[in-house]
Amino acid sequence: MKFFIDTANLDQIREAQDMGILDGVTTNPSLMAKEGISGEQNILNHYVDICNIVDGDVSAEVISTEYNDMIQEGEKLAQLHENIVVKVPMIKDGVKAIKYFSDKGIRTNCTLIFSVGQALLAAKAGATYVSPFIGRLDDISTDGLNLIDEIRTVYDNYVFETQILAASVRHPMHIIDCAKIGADVMTGPLSAITALLKHPLTDIGLEKFLADYKSVNG
Ligand code: E4P
Repeated sequence: MKFFIDTANLDQIREAQDMGILDGVTTNPSLMAKEGISGEQNILNHYVDICNIVDGDVSAEVISTEYNDMIQEGEKLAQLHENIVVKVPMIKDGVKAIKYFSDKGIRTNCTLIFSVGQALLAAKAGATYVSPFIGRLDDISTDGLNLIDEIRTVYDNYVFETQILAASVRHPMHIIDCAKIGADVMTGPLSAITALLKHPLTDIGLEKFLADYKSVNG
């Protein structure tokens, strides 16, 4: 399973990259706003900065909701850097735009997926990735992981090449469960990724090894 980090924070992207486990980055307009990135040129520059840190796909989201505007915006984003994947919302014009981008060889990430039907449409349009938001489904008492499982079944039934990018991951168990189900990619915050490191027996064991070494070596 590929690991993407879901942030526009350059320090966190560098930290994940330095660990050697980072396969890509996802951003969205909310994450860009959180970093205080505003103005079209600053936003475009920020995407390039991200692409220069990570050797992998970087999702950059269009803010247009009308087909022609999405095409124009997406083509501009795609030209920024070879790592850019154009992120398009799951709306009717978005599906049309994904088909257009797909035919032109521009990679896409269909975002805001909350049902199997939406994932099926995105795959038929040729999306490179679909992003089912599992945390936001959990937030409304609906099983987000079950959606990943259902999409996996449907995609495998017809050998769709679209990759399932489990998004809105909130904690380490989401990551582990996505890996068990067979999500192709997960995207989450750095805190969820680094939480995978932790086990009290590791800490206790390491402390004992170092103490034993010190007891005979000084
Ligand atoms: C996906 O690409 C989104 O950026 C993201 O995962 C949304 O996560 P959230 O529900 O924690 O905002």
